[in-house]
Amino acid sequence: MDFRSLGHTCVVGMHWGDEGKGKIVDLLTEHFDIVVRYNGGGNAGHTVQIGGEKFALHLLPVGVLSPGKAAVVGPGIALDLPRMLEEIATLSQRGIEVGDRLKISDRAHLVMPYHKKQDALSEAALGDGKIGTTARGIGPCYADKMQRATALRVGDLLSPDNFREKLRRIVQQKNALFSAIYGDSEPISADSLADEYLGYAEQVRRNICDTTQFLYENIQAGRRLLFEGANGTLLDVDHGTYPYVTSSSTSALGVPAGAGVPTQTIKTVLGVTKAYTTRVGSGPMPTELHDDTGQYIRDRGHEYGTTTGRPRRCGWFDAVAGQYSVRVGGVTQVAVMHLDTLTGLDRIGICTGYRTPNGPLPGFVSDPALLAAAEPVIEYLPGWKEDLRSARSIDALPANARAYLDRIGTLLGVPITIVSVGPERTQTLLRS
Ligand code: GDP
Ligand code: IMO
Ligand code: MG
Repeated sequence: MDFRSLGHTCVVGMHWGDEGKGKIVDLLTEHFDIVVRYNGGGNAGHTVQIGGEKFALHLLPVGVLSPGKAAVVGPGIALDLPRMLEEIATLSQRGIEVGDRLKISDRAHLVMPYHKKQDALSEAALGDGKIGTTARGIGPCYADKMQRATALRVGDLLSPDNFREKLRRIVQQKNALFSAIYGDSEPISADSLADEYLGYAEQVRRNICDTTQFLYENIQAGRRLLFEGANGTLLDVDHGTYPYVTSSSTSALGVPAGAGVPTQTIKTVLGVTKAYTTRVGSGPMPTELHDDTGQYIRDRGHEYGTTTGRPRRCGWFDAVAGQYSVRVGGVTQVAVMHLDTLTGLDRIGICTGYRTPNGPLPGFVSDPALLAAAEPVIEYLPGWKEDLRSARSIDALPANARAYLDRIGTLLGVPITIVSVGPERTQTLLRS
């Protein structure tokens, strides 16, 4: 793989999140100067394993783990400030100083405790119809951003009196709303919340800036940008399985707006997918396996959420959804993760189409009812018994594993340039 030729690159998930974006961003960081988060917030959980040591980041861009690299939290982020401060403190205890390398957009929106409360109350009220959110306040924060009058941005923290005044008004509304709609009887105190957040602001004051200008100047100076997508393309608010999605633009389409760079900035869109498919939360998943094979994949792949610890739903690789993600987000090359997890299966399925009682579907559809009714058309390939975790080149993989990768590559129609056979940086196979 020729890293120099990548240009400004975006790493995005091709399914419903947790594809292994964190590992890929970490791997690529040494070839870039700045790592930029542009969407989502604390709902993301990006795991990186370096020499047996695990790091799980939710708000900080993975680039902060690499010494000397700058990290940007862009305008499109829903920022849970206390959680980010916890991440910074935890890293510091582990010998990694974030310091001035972190730039936080003054335009990013603050996730406040009442957003998390609203998330939880709304989900509880939905009962069986719940979205299955991560309860990190993402939906309510972005709803307030669009509503405008009830929003707070990072930049608001820099004017304490205005912040306090605004917060009083918003909290009054939230308390009234929670009581009227959900029968909630525990009002939030605006003043103590203001004290708390203005305290946090002091800790990050030097990090807050106009990141759009920062990125512009760095692009002009020839620095290389790596955009770290959160969530996955099928969770995109416009293009995913709505309403069972998150509330941001999760594919490369989200980069220009969420990071504040011109559309033509990105040269490479690296789509990340597992060698199978997983999903957390509610919503249709045509290839889900409810049998022992699904459990086998969950156990071998440690498929439990990084953010919430929930068991992930597991199923065969969904090439129809993958093709859709390639098309929607303009994926130019693919990283296939967790190939090692499939070891030991006699045969491995790939979903190549969807059928319904009314005939085949033309491809991926975002209508949840239609998708829920879809039966996957599964093509089976022979499995392999060899442990792949110590393989160090694609040529060293068993023939059946190579044939499986080739089939995925053919179906997606874009080259597979990275294959991952374990969580460590070293367990990564590159193809030029
Ligand atoms: P992200 O949200 O896309 O960054 O993915 P997560 O970090 O939530 O989940 C991916 C999990 O798989 C993490 O625990 C990684 O350490 C792990 N992982 C990544 N690549 C591989 C791989 O190739 N094989 C195995 N066994 N684990 C992997
Ligand atoms: P990373 O970046 C997996 C899912 C939630 C839920 C839906 C809405 O680690 O891949 P939200 O809290 O965003 O309102 O939840 O989206 N979800 C994710 N699933 N990985 C993620 O992020 C996710 N971010 C959101 O499970 O179904
Ligand atoms: Mg994750």
